[in-house]
Amino acid sequence: MPKRVLRGRIRVPGDKSISHRALMLAAMAVGRSRLTGLLEGEDVLRTAEALRTLGADIAREGDGAFAVHGVGVGGLTEAAGVLDLGNSGTAARLLIGALATHPFVSFVTGDASLCRRPMARVTMPLSRMGAGFVARHGDRLPLAVTGAAMPIPVVERLAVPSAQVKSAILLAGLNAPGETTVIEPEPTRDHTEILLRHFGAVVKSEEAAEDEEGNRRGRAITVTGYPELACRDVTVPGDPSSAAFPVVGALLAEESEVAIENVGANPLRLGLYETLREMGADIEFSNPREQGGEKVADITARASRLKGVEVPPERAPTMIDEYPILAVAAAFAEGPTVMRGLAELRVKESDRVAAMAAGLASCGVEVEKLEDGLIIHGSGRRPSGAMVASHMDHRIAMAFLTMGVAAADEVTIDDAAMIATSFPGFAELMNGIGAEMKAAP
Ligand code: S3P
Repeated sequence: MPKRVLRGRIRVPGDKSISHRALMLAAMAVGRSRLTGLLEGEDVLRTAEALRTLGADIAREGDGAFAVHGVGVGGLTEAAGVLDLGNSGTAARLLIGALATHPFVSFVTGDASLCRRPMARVTMPLSRMGAGFVARHGDRLPLAVTGAAMPIPVVERLAVPSAQVKSAILLAGLNAPGETTVIEPEPTRDHTEILLRHFGAVVKSEEAAEDEEGNRRGRAITVTGYPELACRDVTVPGDPSSAAFPVVGALLAEESEVAIENVGANPLRLGLYETLREMGADIEFSNPREQGGEKVADITARASRLKGVEVPPERAPTMIDEYPILAVAAAFAEGPTVMRGLAELRVKESDRVAAMAAGLASCGVEVEKLEDGLIIHGSGRRPSGAMVASHMDHRIAMAFLTMGVAAADEVTIDDAAMIATSFPGFAELMNGIGAEMKAAP
């Protein structure tokens, strides 16, 4: 295959996590908030549609620009139909959280991928706050929520490090009396806390008290119930999880240099970039600034020779969505890359451990499956290509298309439709800097 070189200055679509949260909080604030830079991917549009069905007024005013007339905390109203959240775990879990303390019945569903994903992680703590649930197989969508009429504030210690679960409980706590606390053993993305404060809620984040054996317990995040959320404008930065694809493409394709402007640089999202640097990647963060409490920067990546590394498992929450693209980088590196602590990857949009292992193996990469992770034996040479299954998973699809930019043979995927959930225009943007990907079917 002819060599490709990636060059250019680009922007990636808005951050998916922040976009969902900005819509939800604006919908629960009083008055008109203006959101700009919002991701118009299918996942976020599902959140907007669900919030409209629940009584918020959301109008699109231009590219990534939305005006939201909120209904105030506790002001959502029963939807006439079923809330269909498509492929989005974040939309489903966070909305279920908010609905758990609204005293009416909601029906929630999603696509085949979302209907396979576990929901007990949110329904169990939310039941303790007084909500009732009926779910398929006990904890799968479709699911019915009966919101608590007299919500009970709780102190919940997370069993899995999950920003979605933390956020679901905090959103439920908005419409509950007193203080609702989530204790997280390992820090996860804190966009909900940052945006809650931006909209005027009181959120404390402090070292959690030690347990009976004197073990440190992580951080306690507490929201005070019944705040009056005031309307606020939000500017959403580019998504570091989306930027990861052009960044890794530039590292792998010889003589490349790509700059990505205006990327969210929240430290709890940057584990991939730290790992790539340890592998020898030439990645520079410049022009650091802050927007609505979120750090933002420009990122420049230049072609680099990578070496295999051992990724600390405790870094997983800060790079949880980036393992597929890291696995691609590792396939080009010299020496083994060891990734452990990946149990959560098995319950994302697909079983990402299995999908990456199978896809890389079909491209001739030596992959060892561990109980909780993967070892990828990079040979320092370009892997070959293959037709790879994307398993209804946008990040698997984009990781393999990015691999194809620098692989020795063509990499194709069976289905690119899901890319639109998080990165509309992915192939066009990558082709604009020289990727020569085939247009998504
Ligand atoms: C997200 C949190 C992560 C991540 C997901 C988005 C969020 O999930 O995988 O894509 O916006 O809170 P978990 O927190 O469940 O790991």
